[in-house]
Amino acid sequence: MAKTLDLERILHNQGVGSRKLCRIMILNEEITVNGELCEDPSAEFALENLRFTVKGEPWDYREKSYLMLHKPSNYECSHKTQHHPTIYSLLPHSLVERGVQCIGRLDEDTTGLILISDDGQFIHRMSSPKHKVPKVYEVTCKHPVSQANIHALLGGVQLVDEPTPIAALEVTQISDNVIHMTLAEGKYHQVKRMVAAIANRVEELKRIQIGELKLPENLAVGEWRWLSDKDLEKLNASK
Ligand code: URA
Repeated sequence: MAKTLDLERILHNQGVGSRKLCRIMILNEEITVNGELCEDPSAEFALENLRFTVKGEPWDYREKSYLMLHKPSNYECSHKTQHHPTIYSLLPHSLVERGVQCIGRLDEDTTGLILISDDGQFIHRMSSPKHKVPKVYEVTCKHPVSQANIHALLGGVQLVDEPTPIAALEVTQISDNVIHMTLAEGKYHQVKRMVAAIANRVEELKRIQIGELKLPENLAVGEWRWLSDKDLEKLNASK
């Protein structure tokens, strides 16, 4: 039998607000379900293909949230930030209410692709070191990058506090000072430390790809969008 749930709980689970607020909205005739006004907080609905409106604004029911964000510089990937605003302030409040988390963190001055979800299993799968989902970074360096440097990055560089040298999976030269570097791990400040190990310095860092999923060109800095089924397929193929 199709799974059903009462309207008050559905709205709360979808991040519309507290249980009390959702009940008040339903009683105030601010909610329609599948095209019809519903004033009963305990009315049960099948969850599949459920569509509802909140104060006239349409929502699709989502069991779990999966989204991507184009992270701007000077934002922190944490709910409790220290020096800059949180990336979660770039999302609608209803999503934050659902308890979404980013999958792996980017430094405050790093931009680019970041995945966000409230599906604990997905977060674990995508961030577990066991799965080694490759990530591609566009790295702008202070000094030109030589062929010998690229060789060193591919062969493995010794980082302080790491027992063995760490190698990039791929390095592509884009211009004198810009490389694309693919990493299998997500160690603390890994790109910056690897670039420091070749006696250079990262001036700008942008994550442009996770697994097979590229940062879309039409997703502006600071914007987010839902992951499509195709995006999720690409990510699942990456493991
Ligand atoms: N490596 C870094 O040094 N910083 C990031 O934000 C991501 C990878």
